[in-house]
Parts: sequence; C-alpha cells; structure tokens
Amino acid sequence: MQVNQKYMRKKIVAGNWKMNNTLDEGVFLVEKILNLQESTATDDVLKILGVPSTHLSVIGSLLKGKADFSVAAQNSHHEEKGAYTGEISARMIASTNVHFVIVGHSERRQYFNETNELLAKKVNQVLENGMTPIYCVGESLEQRKKNEHFDVVKSQLQETLFHLPEEDIKNLVIAYEPVWAIGTGETATSEQAQEIHAFIRGILSDKYGNVIADSISILYGGSCNVTNAKELFACPDIDGGLIGGASLKATDFVAITSSF
Ligand code: PGA
Repeated sequence: MQVNQKYMRKKIVAGNWKMNNTLDEGVFLVEKILNLQESTATDDVLKILGVPSTHLSVIGSLLKGKADFSVAAQNSHHEEKGAYTGEISARMIASTNVHFVIVGHSERRQYFNETNELLAKKVNQVLENGMTPIYCVGESLEQRKKNEHFDVVKSQLQETLFHLPEEDIKNLVIAYEPVWAIGTGETATSEQAQEIHAFIRGILSDKYGNVIADSISILYGGSCNVTNAKELFACPDIDGGLIGGASLKATDFVAITSSF
C-alpha cells in the first residue's frame, strides 16, 4: 500500500498520543507495536501514529519501509513561515517526511481557540505541502443535548473545507469526535456514530458528488477501545478510528487495528 498517493477510501487506525511519551518511551512503544503487529494480518489497514513534533523524525525512521504504517503531526501553523516564535510550519513537518497532520482536534479548538476559519488556513498549508489533513469535527455535550450536533458538524465542514477544489477534498481524512466522548470513557453508540458519519458523507456528497464522498475515509474518535472498536468499525460509514488513550498501549492499539 502506498501511503503518499492521492487518497482513496481506506481502513485507517490513527493513534493520537497527544502530549504523552518522551522520545525514549515513544520509541519503546513503537517497537512494541511493530513486534506485535507482525503476528496480525492487517496489511490492508493503514496505521498512523500521531506523535509529538519532537518525535516525528525519529519515529518516522523507525517506520520507514513499512507501507502500512505512517506518522502524523498533531498540529501545524496556519501561515507558511515567518516571525512566529515556537511555532512549526506545515513545510517544516513535510520536510521530515511526514504525510499526515491532525487538524482541528477539539482540544486545539477548545484550549487554543482554533476557529473553523483559522483551520481552513491550516488545511490549505497542509495540502500545499503535499500532506493529508486528518480534519476533526464534533459537537460538545451541550450542543448534543440541544440537538445542535448536525448543524455544528455541518458548519465545521463547510467553513473549513468547502473552499477546496475536488482534487484537494479527495486527499483528506475526516475524524468525527464528539467532545463528550473524548477521554471520558463514554463512547457514542454505533447507531449515533453511524448516523452522523452518514450525515457527513451526505454533506460531502451534496457539495462534491457521490463518487468523491464515497472515496473519503471518515474515522470515529472518542473513547474508542478494544471492546467497542469492532462494533463501531462494522458500521457502513465508519472507516476506522482516531484513538487517544488506547493508542498509548501497544496491545490495545494493535488489537484495535484488527477490529475490522
Ligand atoms: P480518546 O481520545 O480515545 O482518549 O477518547 C480520542 C482523541 O482525542 O483523538
């Protein structure tokens, strides 16, 4: 499997380590994952490790030559370059041979005030530098209770992505992550998840047509784990998962990759 080719719908399990693991701990985890993975037949599942920026090069080299593995950055800056002390541009990330960047995770929206408009610029930078954005959408508990989740997700898609031409939208992965399910142990039911994944695909189809909407991988995230992954991944519009907590344990991560 070529991970850097223009995107077609694939099964994907992406780990999001967030701000966890020193470099040594990260290397140890990846080596464990690779050892365990040898005994499972999941070549048709793309495994992406979303690691801290400081680890991208080293972990990228550990995964070199493994076509079913790739590494992702968890964020990148929205400008091309300039006087932004401490920031990391998409071009810098691409220069470390990384193919994916997580964009718009709810923790970035919440703690770093990232808006749909700003995220549109990030998506542009990631695409311009030849990488694939993993664009995250999802509603808060309050929005879900008020039955606003469809509208919220629709705006997140429209305001951040809908300026993109067809050839770019095809090169994108979407992750639906209800904020109330992230790190809480509370997962969306497979019915709730499938309902909104189908809704997302419908919105993409209205704008870009069926063929393109069907080619985009849409991942579920939010307390996805060894116990619930199988049921979630069995849903017709769920193409895999974006995994936080469970991606920090090699055995759990590998078990999730064989849950299709
Ligand atoms: P969680 O995180 O699996 O720990 O809920 C998912 C995410 O934030 O991507």
